[in-house]
Amino acid sequence: MIRRAAVTDHPWIVETGAEAYRDLGDYTAILPSWLEQRGVLAWIDHDVSGRGRGFAMLGFYLDDPQKPPGQAKVVADLLALAILPAHQGRGIGTALLTHVLDVAERVAYSSGIPSIRLSVAENNIGAQRLYLRHGFQVVDGSTTYDKGQRALRMVRALTPVT
Ligand SMILES: CC(C)(COP(=O)(O)OP(=O)(O)OC[C@H]1O[C@@H](n2cnc3c(N)ncnc32)[C@H](O)[C@@H]1OP(=O)(O)O)[C@@H](O)C(=O)NCCC(=O)NCCS
Repeated sequence: MIRRAAVTDHPWIVETGAEAYRDLGDYTAILPSWLEQRGVLAWIDHDVSGRGRGFAMLGFYLDDPQKPPGQAKVVADLLALAILPAHQGRGIGTALLTHVLDVAERVAYSSGIPSIRLSVAENNIGAQRLYLRHGFQVVDGSTTYDKGQRALRMVRALTPVT
């Protein structure tokens, strides 16, 4: 079951993200800083008792905040997708990703958002496979360093839902 996260869920999200991303680096500082930003939304997948199993975080940003009002484009970023280790490999990541893409496609129509982007560690082959299966493509030449490790940027077009 998926629900929108509330501010009271933020400590759980940070703790869960830090645990799920442990092999990828220390996320205890970056996760709260994302959650504080305007335009960042999060969803939690939970069991029948309400216990969280994983979360997804989506940000909507202006591509260039320096541009005059009305001229900057809104871009969507999948900031985080993290499932607690005990619940990985059971379809929860797929369900959360599908949910986030659905929301982004609904917003895309009214806000003119052409695509959704993400960054994934170069050695995180499992996550890359998940994103490829959901229409993301590697941005050629996009290999970058994200928190000290090589990361790929991926992008997927958003088909506006009218
Ligand atoms: C990657 C992740 C979000 C996938 O969620 P999940 O619920 O485990 O995945 P699902 O059961 O929906 O399976 C979908 C795909 O995810 C990938 N996957 C599954 N378990 C995984 C794991 N432990 N680590 C990495 N990828 C995994 C596989 O590609 C799988 O597809 P497959 O069955 O064809 O191999 C989750 O495993 C996770 O939180 N991993 C650690 C944090 C992370 O890597 N997040 C993404 C970084 S951008």
